[in-house]
Amino acid sequence: MSSAELPLARFLARCHSDFSKDDSGEVASYIPELSLANPADFGIAVTTVDGFVYEIGDSNVEFTIQSISKAFVFAVALETVGPDRVETVVGVEPSGDAFNSIRLRSDNRPFNPMVNAGAIACTSLICESEGDGAFTRLHDALSRFAGRRLDVDEATFKSERATGDRNRAIAYLLRNHGVLLGDVDQVLDVYFRQCALRVSARDLSVMAATLSHKGRNPLTGEQVVSSYAVARTLSVMTSSGMYDSAGRWVYRVGIPAKSGVGGGIVAALPSQLGLGTYSPRIDDQGNSVRGLRTCEALSTHYGLHMLNRVGDVRTCIAASYDVGSVSSRRNRRPREQAILEAHHAKCAIVELTGALSFANAEYISRRVRGLPPELAYLIVDLRRVPSVSEAALQLMADILDDLARAEVDVVFCGITKGTPVEAALGEWLLGKAGVRSIALLDEAIEWAEDRIIQSEAGALDVEKPTALSEQQLLAGLDPTALSALSELMTPHHYRVGERMILAGEQATTLLFVVSGVVSVRLPGGLRLATLSAGMAVGEMALLETTRSADVWADTAVACLELSLDAFASFRNLHPRACEHIMGNLARLLAKRLIIANTKIEVLASY
Ligand code: DON
Repeated sequence: MSSAELPLARFLARCHSDFSKDDSGEVASYIPELSLANPADFGIAVTTVDGFVYEIGDSNVEFTIQSISKAFVFAVALETVGPDRVETVVGVEPSGDAFNSIRLRSDNRPFNPMVNAGAIACTSLICESEGDGAFTRLHDALSRFAGRRLDVDEATFKSERATGDRNRAIAYLLRNHGVLLGDVDQVLDVYFRQCALRVSARDLSVMAATLSHKGRNPLTGEQVVSSYAVARTLSVMTSSGMYDSAGRWVYRVGIPAKSGVGGGIVAALPSQLGLGTYSPRIDDQGNSVRGLRTCEALSTHYGLHMLNRVGDVRTCIAASYDVGSVSSRRNRRPREQAILEAHHAKCAIVELTGALSFANAEYISRRVRGLPPELAYLIVDLRRVPSVSEAALQLMADILDDLARAEVDVVFCGITKGTPVEAALGEWLLGKAGVRSIALLDEAIEWAEDRIIQSEAGALDVEKPTALSEQQLLAGLDPTALSALSELMTPHHYRVGERMILAGEQATTLLFVVSGVVSVRLPGGLRLATLSAGMAVGEMALLETTRSADVWADTAVACLELSLDAFASFRNLHPRACEHIMGNLARLLAKRLIIANTKIEVLASY
């Protein structure tokens, strides 16, 4: 299926064909070079936060970014000189005036960074901080938002510089009030150049998606600005991005947006998408007519208003169980198994999914409180959690303190290096008493099981050799048959880390583990089971001729090996004993199946 057949592509194509018919609005001409734009051009692009780009119509036609640059320059100013300094030169209130209004607030600051006065003030801050390198700084930053090197339209830059007296008047007024401290011409050169950067609707959609993705460009993966700067930028885009129609915009569309007289619009819906449109016919307020209609249609059709959010906090728990229903892949010896069965409520596992925010973390706090009083180990699986908000972190800190007081050890697993979750939790976890991180869920469960067994029985029986009569597969065999079988076995020793069985090979033997620990793994490394003394490995050789998995010695291992040939001769002499062994094998397999079915049932019930 081509991407043009995707549902959103079809919807955008419909918008494109419907709104192409709207010839209202005029191409801007107060900057002479802008009047050369082709009024028929119309491009739409949407970039998702996972980096998929939809493009319809003239999505690659380049035009000058104009006022849209203001949103991104504001973000860069916050990053470069910090919010305190930014707030001394510009407010954050909607002005209710046109974009080029010369009116300032009563404290002589511009109303907000989205009108010309506020944008010039922000650019002046970059000039103060970067001197001659100011434009390079902005050019680099906006290019990183777009994920490609943007060019400057020299003709439009010169055209605006030659005619931009109104902006010159604004800049002098700001200088008069001590808002702009530098040289007016130098600041305006940078401002006119930033407005003359060439972008396409596709570029705008990527730039918007970078805002929607907390400052990380979804195509390049680069963190362009901090999530702090993004939240502030989206705020002023919401309240002032569409000038004196800002109120109506929030009311009807509800997506933070910014327009430019060049005919572009960006709209950024946090965590969801970035939209870029281009159509140079603009209305009286300087907003692209077809672009506005596209934004409005997209928001209405899919109910994308940012305040129109629904969510069920309960879905953040993908599964919740204890080691009684889902144990680790470590097969326990009977005594250990009995301990775990008696004390299964001591270890609970909670698998979380989705971004953790205030609402679902609060729900988790109630679920944790409802766990049984005998709880000693809580395993929290974060494999499917992409981010943890500040509020969720605060709630989690309180939950962890309560658990520490109740002497519950907490294990986090599934935290991957270099991810936002690691950034949020990595250091923080280390400082918490009774909290640890184990990479894999299965290993975390095994760790907790070991602790439970140790606290009840003193130590694990790993090293203690097992008599042949204790082998599960040989249980109930009469002594004559057992000693006849033992005559046919040869002892084998394996070093730690040695491979004992290779997947894909012809199976010619089965091994009885006398002491030590072995792991059965798929060739890719995934652990299927860990076995210890009293258990057989490669026992499927009695049914299957090809080895289905690798077997590794996790510790020094002592085994008794029985070849299939030897077993065949044993079968001739002791047919009933043989039947008994096959019965034991069937029972062991049935038990494994029952355990697997229980796991499936528990995990599928969520
Ligand atoms: O300063 C100006 O007038 C232009 N460079 C930018 C104005 C603009 O894009 C207003 N937006 N709708």
